[in-house]
Amino acid sequence: MTRVLQLSDPHFGTEQPQVVDALHRFIDSCAPDVLLLSGDITQRARRSQFDAAQRFLDRVTCPVLAIPGNHDIPLFNLFARFFNPYGNFRRTFGKHLEPEFSNPDVLIIGVNTTRASRHKDGEVSASQTARVIERLRQAEPEQLRIVMQHHPVRAVAESDNANLLIGREQAVPAWVDAGMDLLLGGHIHLPYVWPLFGHTGESGRKAWTVQAGTAVSSRTRGEVPNSVNLIRHDVEADRHQCFIERWDYSAEADYFVQALVTDVAPDRPSQGPALT
Ligand SMILES: [Fe+2]
Repeated sequence: MTRVLQLSDPHFGTEQPQVVDALHRFIDSCAPDVLLLSGDITQRARRSQFDAAQRFLDRVTCPVLAIPGNHDIPLFNLFARFFNPYGNFRRTFGKHLEPEFSNPDVLIIGVNTTRASRHKDGEVSASQTARVIERLRQAEPEQLRIVMQHHPVRAVAESDNANLLIGREQAVPAWVDAGMDLLLGGHIHLPYVWPLFGHTGESGRKAWTVQAGTAVSSRTRGEVPNSVNLIRHDVEADRHQCFIERWDYSAEADYFVQALVTDVAPDRPSQGPALT
């Protein structure tokens, strides 16, 4: 079994120390194989805020995969925003803005949907869409195929329609048809799991979008608590098994408690030729 822990929108600079401490204890107990940061790692892309994120990660022993969110680009420093927007991000996470992780059980593809020329909106280009399709088609049958980016592709609240990823109409069905199983996002601090379909609609392949809340920030949305997603994937008797566990921070328990489990088993065999 592979355990993938998705943390999103921690917005270091606005982190709550008791929630950070509880999250460390949760990570120790669930022992993920890989930890994902799906953007807005900092509040204002300041060096000190990335340093706080680094101190948090210093206690994590598994591989970490991070992509930028709109808050990880400087907002007020216009020179840095347009000439070196990812300088502080790269200082902490390395030069790759679209990292990948692969083991026999899972393939994770990062996509950078931030744009220095846009305020907070995200965009996926035709070349990014094509690159992800190519990588998905190279996946092994037994691998769970995850795409991670920051901006949502499907809203469940009408007020979030304005936050949807530009270019999603082209990218999402093509990625579903190319074999994507899960599309991870953040940005709106509202966790949910929702089905996605390929070009032939509900008669074709189904995948899932997995939105995460804010992991540790005080910038929670209404009554929605801090939360993280734990993705468990296994192959048994040649069938995929996959569950999304949402864990919410409970101030009463001072710990993350399991709030919801969603069965998202991929509807494809774990053996045989790759999808074409
Ligand atoms: Fe955010």
